[in-house]
Amino acid sequence: MDSMFRTLDNLEADLGDLIGKVSLVRVDLNLPMHDGEVTDATRIRAAAPTILELAGKGAKVLLLAHFGRPKGDRSSTMSLSMVIGAVEAVIGKEVMFVPEVAGEVVAQAIGILRPGDVAVLENTRFWKGEEANDPEFAKAIAANGDFYVNDAFSAAHRAHATTEGLAHLLPSYAGRSMQAELEALDKALGNPEKPVAAIVGGAKVSSKLDVLKHLVAQVDHLIIGGGMANTFIAAKGVDVGKSLCEHDLTGTVNEILAAAEAAGCTVHLPYDVVVAKEFAANPPSLRTCNVHEVAADEMILDVGPQAVEALGDALKTCRTLVWNGPMGAFETEPFDAATVALARIAAALTKEGTLISVAGGGDTVAALHQAGVADEFSYISTAGGAFLEWMEGRELPGVAALSK
Ligand code: 3PG
Repeated sequence: MDSMFRTLDNLEADLGDLIGKVSLVRVDLNLPMHDGEVTDATRIRAAAPTILELAGKGAKVLLLAHFGRPKGDRSSTMSLSMVIGAVEAVIGKEVMFVPEVAGEVVAQAIGILRPGDVAVLENTRFWKGEEANDPEFAKAIAANGDFYVNDAFSAAHRAHATTEGLAHLLPSYAGRSMQAELEALDKALGNPEKPVAAIVGGAKVSSKLDVLKHLVAQVDHLIIGGGMANTFIAAKGVDVGKSLCEHDLTGTVNEILAAAEAAGCTVHLPYDVVVAKEFAANPPSLRTCNVHEVAADEMILDVGPQAVEALGDALKTCRTLVWNGPMGAFETEPFDAATVALARIAAALTKEGTLISVAGGGDTVAALHQAGVADEFSYISTAGGAFLEWMEGRELPGVAALSK
């Protein structure tokens, strides 16, 4: 995999000594914020090794990132000046803020920065050229840099000036986080050890249709959970009561099931389920039943314990697992039980060394943290949309632009 990309290991051989050289480093600082404070610094921590490695080698490190969706206009509520303190706290260094991304102001800032210093440039999406991937905008940014590093896998599904365009204008490298992500994803679906299982959960089949269509041809076991499973169960003619269900997708679901069968992929649907008459924490009407016994006034809110045990047995026969989406309504107790139990089984198999486990997506990562096993998976992706597009088998423009 890494032979396809230049990484930070290639820098000195390509460019010589980095002291005083200007690196334009695309990171993902699209961070969760509340009242002007960063509430989760995971993405800063992901970029920190690259920032510190470049700074340690004496480069001037200019960070490029977007925040929110300001649609080409300046907005004080979306200025990256707000994240400077959080970046400083993670990397343990003073960080300069530069309120532009190109031109004389950036050139002057570079003049002030010493080798090894770090600056954050303003939100790239304040300029229309970013999302339009305008070559002139990219050229203006590139004019201030000596080389480009992309460390933002989670923004790599966007063909924007700083995620894609810059890679064509300067010597380009995958940062450490991007490199780790690509290596892990290659192990999970590119060149996986077989058999491979995929767990796909979440509320709606419609949001993951392309994922399902791609996976049935790639994996040996497709485990379906969450509200999506109801749509599959209903398509098989089973009454799912008042469960969340996309009845209009019956035809599509049957096509997916037929494609799975043709490809030799076993699709696992729950045969016992946790149901209730109302969606609330620990409701009085809570019960576990066979999937054929859901009453007209009940809804399925989680996969049942027998199904979890069977799924655990299936995972024991697998060497690779890729996971996106929770098995039930995991934010509300006790409908997190199946997600937590299955996550613990996957974590234990990973620890024993029989399973490579890769997970991604905001809800999934939150669920794995809730299960207390996020650190025990082989790899957890910080990406949301990019992870899903990768699971759809799509080429990500930001990654493709780094490929040789
Ligand atoms: C993300 O938060 O998933 C990435 O930063 C991409 O953001 P976007 O969906 O606004 O392009």
